[in-house]
Amino acid sequence: MQKITIAIDGFSSTGKSTLAKQLAKALGYIYVDTGAMYRAIALFAMRNRFVGVENENVAALIKLLPNAKLKFVFNEQLGFAEMYLNGENIEKEIRRIEVSNQVSRVATIEEVRHKLVDMQKEMGKDKGIVMDGRDIGTVVFPDAELKIFMTASPETRAYRRYKELLDKGDKVSYEEVLKNIQNRDYVDSHREFSPLKRAEDAIEFDNSDMGMEEQFDRIYNHSLRVIEKQ
Ligand code: DC
Repeated sequence: MQKITIAIDGFSSTGKSTLAKQLAKALGYIYVDTGAMYRAIALFAMRNRFVGVENENVAALIKLLPNAKLKFVFNEQLGFAEMYLNGENIEKEIRRIEVSNQVSRVATIEEVRHKLVDMQKEMGKDKGIVMDGRDIGTVVFPDAELKIFMTASPETRAYRRYKELLDKGDKVSYEEVLKNIQNRDYVDSHREFSPLKRAEDAIEFDNSDMGMEEQFDRIYNHSLRVIEKQ
């Protein structure tokens, strides 16, 4: 069967990665979480004290970017690929709140985006890939056969994220989470280079009132129809 490229974009905490992972598994495709790549560069920048400090030094970060070697390594047990930075598994560390607080800023840097977009294009050159992020359907794969843009109200997303964090034992308030989501939405959609926006030919999917299972069934069936038409 012909393989296609599936681009999934949208705001933070809309369930993009859950959907993308399920779709990739069902279709036998590769799944790439591009947010993890931006998080890895944010961690690299933080460890070198280029960001998150009083005198941030973007020029030094840009200069040292070639030293940040990123790699995804598939973990059989978990069923997905984990992010490595210079040979170290950083999957857990990049999900920490300190990294979340710096990553939107680091993702505004043009040179960072160039480096990561080039890598992403290379990963998808043989198709058979589901990639999620903010600029996949607009910049990375403008010719993707299937583009999905996911939305849900900020309140719904904040509530889901809040419950997730509580389950993990993090003590946060709903208001704090909502504020973080609103801030990230703003930075992601107002940056100069590749801001988050829906590609004209993307299907918009609002899952505010939809369960994960129903969402998956609808998108999976749609993707099968797109594949059949190739
Ligand atoms: O999906 P995520 O929350 O892990 O993404 C982390 C950050 O990286 C988020 O602030 C937006 C940014 N990002 C981006 O600018 N472009 C992408 N393709 C993916 C993520």
